[in-house]
Amino acid sequence: MAKHKVTLIPGDGIGPEVTEAAVRVIDAAGVDIEWDRHEAGITAIQEHGVSVPDALMDSIRQNRVALKGPITTLVGKGFKSANVTLRQKLDLYVNLRPVKTIGGVPSRFEKVDLIIVRENTEDLYTGIESVISPGVTSATKVITERASSRVIRWAFEYARKNKRKKITLVHKANIMKISDGLFLQIFENVAKEYPDIIAEDKIVDALSMKLVMDPSKFDMLVLGNLFGDIVSDLAAGLVGGLGVVPGANIGDEYAVFEAVHGTAPDIAGKNLANPTALIFSSLLMLRHLGEHEAANRIWKSIVLTLAMGHNLTRDLGGTCTTTEFTDELINEIKSRS
Ligand code: NAI
Repeated sequence: MAKHKVTLIPGDGIGPEVTEAAVRVIDAAGVDIEWDRHEAGITAIQEHGVSVPDALMDSIRQNRVALKGPITTLVGKGFKSANVTLRQKLDLYVNLRPVKTIGGVPSRFEKVDLIIVRENTEDLYTGIESVISPGVTSATKVITERASSRVIRWAFEYARKNKRKKITLVHKANIMKISDGLFLQIFENVAKEYPDIIAEDKIVDALSMKLVMDPSKFDMLVLGNLFGDIVSDLAAGLVGGLGVVPGANIGDEYAVFEAVHGTAPDIAGKNLANPTALIFSSLLMLRHLGEHEAANRIWKSIVLTLAMGHNLTRDLGGTCTTTEFTDELINEIKSRS
């Protein structure tokens, strides 16, 4: 029997290419994982008629850990996002997105080291939308004390465990005085329990400007679901783009690891995607599984492979394919075994 059993969701677009790369890399590092493969989103609809099949939910509930490729969500039509469904059904209330500059990756700034914590279950993502009358629509932003306090508390605990010094809460409470007002008020209350961590707040528009001018001013950001979605893509742009930024959806019982990026339809199926973001996400997963030695070895190998500079994928200014980059990385990992 394998040491770990993990649900694998290849996803669609570049998903199957980057998840395949991550599986090969983990295998090369010698971590004993049995992968339980399941479809979600468009591919699941084609096969099973639903975007999140029961068999997938059962698999994650049993294994407690999943590695996931991106899934297409159609704009303005179609089924509810499978990503949102998974996060809500499994109560994955934290979306953790570490954003860090890596030597060899061309980027606008040096020494960015930012932890983004996005609330993952409510806000405008509850999907409560309606047509009030022809030409008049509304969407409801739901902010609750329960969901806000648990994600904010999680962030403070993370800061303590990981020796982070400052948390910035990002909001728009000057306009959304009640909903974002509650989010901010809960932050201020919880912050009193953590006097060792500096707590400050910023309005999302000012934060965006300050972040692109000098990201080193920030340590950890905590955001609601919508602002967290937008600001984490912006932050990815500070360190070389979506090809290198990992993520994790974490709840009290389950964790689903996935990159920040989407299905990249413009390069899907062309062997051009950068698998680094999903491989970094799988390192967060290996640490979650207690496989620290393998995670450290893969991390060092990626940093070295990227620093060599001659084998970068196209998004980083190179000419390598997904497979060539992965092969190079695997050689590096094997040379360290
Ligand atoms: P996207 O992240 O797929 O692509 C944005 C740009 O970044 C594109 O130019 C793409 O080629 C590039 N890019 C993204 N990942 C890359 C990688 N690993 N290597 C090289 N280049 C990469 O965002 P977009 O186009 O807004 O969304 C496409 C689809 O993905 C939509 O259906 C969206 O709903 C879905 N999506 C799914 C997510 C998930 O499953 N967690 C997250 C974000 C979007």
